[in-house]
Amino acid sequence: MHLIDLISGKYKPLTRNTRTIMVMNSKGGSGKTTLATNLASYYASRKRPVVLADFDPQSSSLAWLAARPEENTPIRGLAAWRDRLWIPRDVDTVVMDVPAGIRDRRLVPLLGRAQSIIVPVLPSAIDMRAATDFIAEMIAGSAQSPLAPKIAVVANRVRENTRAFDTLEQFLGQLGLPFLTSLRDSQNYVSAAERGIGIFEMGHASVAVDLDQWDPLLRWLRSKRSQTEPS
Ligand SMILES: Nc1ncnc2c1ncn2[C@@H]1O[C@H](COP(=O)(O)OP(=O)(O)OP(=O)(O)O)[C@@H](O)[C@H]1O
Ligand SMILES: [Mg+2]
Repeated sequence: MHLIDLISGKYKPLTRNTRTIMVMNSKGGSGKTTLATNLASYYASRKRPVVLADFDPQSSSLAWLAARPEENTPIRGLAAWRDRLWIPRDVDTVVMDVPAGIRDRRLVPLLGRAQSIIVPVLPSAIDMRAATDFIAEMIAGSAQSPLAPKIAVVANRVRENTRAFDTLEQFLGQLGLPFLTSLRDSQNYVSAAERGIGIFEMGHASVAVDLDQWDPLLRWLRSKRSQTEPS
């Protein structure tokens, strides 16, 4: 983005009313980029102008975007680890992909950037324990942030009907945070990732189960429960 674009009014800063959705977990490989890219693909498939803001210098989300076919609705990428969070004037939705390992002093400023935060968690005891610690840190951090985000958890890469998440669900219940859905481990995510698309842009029959599993997450994102009061 050039200074001239800012002056000409082609770009705008985020406001409290921008629909901002962040995917974050301190644990690596939990599915942050997978959720962020699929969410961006969902909004694109609904013809909603969307920015995918990559806070990760590894830039996996932007690499996904680079593979995106021309015939698919464009998604604008933003190298948010480096550039200012200014978005094209016509965009009202921003999906943010955050790198692993963000904690302590680096966490609080990020919490203030999104209305809704989705935490993907893998079904292992280690991942779930780490997630409870991280969520407790997020809640403490939110109290210091001007824009307290709404937080929800999604289980990712679930292989079978498992009770593995019972303890995590109980913990979230005590905090009043929702456990939205379980996403299965599926090759659909892997092949979508390679092609720069999301499951919302694939043939319906092969992804029918996955689309059903996303439904509670999308419903939460549409509802007031996931949004801070607009100013
Ligand atoms: N539901 C799923 N089914 C199958 N594969 C998955 C699923 N979710 C993620 N993956 C795969 O797991 C790997 C890690 O996922 P992803 O890159 O989304 O995690 P991440 O949290 O962004 O990782 P990092 O912390 O390195 O940024 C990728 O190869 C991805 O394709
Ligand atoms: Mg990632």
